[in-house]
Amino acid sequence: MLGSVLPFSEEVADRVSEYCETRSTPITETLQKHWEDTRTKFSDADKMSSRLQGAWMIFTARDRKPKRVLEVGCYSGYSALAWYEGTKATKAEIVTLELSPKMIAASREAFKKYGAEDRVKLVEGPADQTLQALTGEFDLIFVDANKDGYEGYIKTILDQKLLSPDGIVLCDNVFARGLTIGADCAPWVNDHVRPYWLACGQALDGFSTRLVQDERVDVVVLPVFDGISQIRWKGT
Ligand SMILES: C[S@@+](CC[C@H](N)C(=O)[O-])C[C@H]1O[C@@H](n2cnc3c(N)ncnc32)[C@H](O)[C@@H]1O
Repeated sequence: MLGSVLPFSEEVADRVSEYCETRSTPITETLQKHWEDTRTKFSDADKMSSRLQGAWMIFTARDRKPKRVLEVGCYSGYSALAWYEGTKATKAEIVTLELSPKMIAASREAFKKYGAEDRVKLVEGPADQTLQALTGEFDLIFVDANKDGYEGYIKTILDQKLLSPDGIVLCDNVFARGLTIGADCAPWVNDHVRPYWLACGQALDGFSTRLVQDERVDVVVLPVFDGISQIRWKGT
């Protein structure tokens, strides 16, 4: 196969998701409960990562064994709890950034409920300002906040060397539901949210197009989930 994406229909894509989920090591019951609670409580719960993506986060963290994890965009705390679960062996510090008072309250409650406060530190406020003030290095950085902010976040992360020499940055949603690739690529995105995702797609296309020209880093854009960009320092 010379291409990188199978031409699934919408219906088959749902079956593929289910297939992958049922053939992957499941997320913990705790995480499953938190995922379901978030879906019940919040009308915008599609901002949360999927169960399979949570399983991938736990796997990735166990595999890479980071000592420090940085997350930009906490929402209800689901992904931070996945990083927490995946770093039980390394006891990594998890620093997660969030702007919304409602989601700060929800995730603080979750971290307390699931006993994750010993290692998860939630920093409140706009991520661009928080990143400027952060010190030290992180081995795994997950960028999953406002899509028009990715370019600035990565610039700060690289300029300030917040990424450790062997570390990795994972940027979520770089496909913007498919609209990064082209306005005609996602007919299933409804009219209510379409303008939002189109604007995200334009910002993310600019981000990805310029990032691959940055000589400091290697980048791979993966057609998994809603598009994941992996970034590492070149030559390490
Ligand atoms: C896609 S959600 C994160 C989902 C979460 N990482 C997960 O996997 O479940 C993005 C979050 O970023 C937050 N956010 C948006 N703009 C932000 C900013 N400028 N600074 C910090 N957080 C921001 C939003 O409030 C939202 O909760």
